[in-house]
Amino acid sequence: MKRIAVLASGEGTNLEAILEAVERGEISGRVVLVISDREKAPALERARRRGVRALFLDPRAFPGREAYDEALAAELQEAQVDLVVLAGFMRLLSPVMVRAFPMRIMNIHPSLLPSFPGTEGVRDALEYGVKVTGCTVHFVDEGLDTGPIILQEAVPVIQGDTVETLHARIHAAEYRLYPRAIELFCQNKLRVEGRRCYIDAE
Ligand code: GAR
Repeated sequence: MKRIAVLASGEGTNLEAILEAVERGEISGRVVLVISDREKAPALERARRRGVRALFLDPRAFPGREAYDEALAAELQEAQVDLVVLAGFMRLLSPVMVRAFPMRIMNIHPSLLPSFPGTEGVRDALEYGVKVTGCTVHFVDEGLDTGPIILQEAVPVIQGDTVETLHARIHAAEYRLYPRAIELFCQNKLRVEGRRCYIDAE
């Protein structure tokens, strides 16, 4: 059974959806650790409530990004994690982390990549005026939201949408998409060749 860690900076509603999917048996892995870079992140509380070990790793305790990521990788390795899931983790990972877990770190992003990468994916899409946006689950490489795409789901932009209403619709899609991608990993069905991620047949 795969051992999963989730990294989250904020609300943690994707984390909650993942934990629920594990409990329903839709993910054949176990979330063994949740780490946040923010002490007050509701994600930590959500983890504790469900009996999952939750850890705050303070960025201010380290001289820089590499040092932080070394500590992060050490925690994850000690917990013998197979898959690292970024769920609203708002820090760009350095090569230290990416190389410690090659094609074993997933991220969810609230747009149809490669459009609108970065921290404001929902706002940027709305302001650009696209009629369709969505969410993307991808493996993490050393770029910003550039790794091989695992799954995507389109979400329509409705006239009158605000960042909040559009993000709520994208969130709903994320709660479906992320558990599916994680389960594909748990079943060893994801195969990466260059930029492409293939899903092996049942
Ligand atoms: C999610 O919508 C996720 O796609 C986004 O942050 C939100 C976290 O929500 N991530 C990014 O923008 C990454 N660049 P949550 O904390 O409620 O899961």
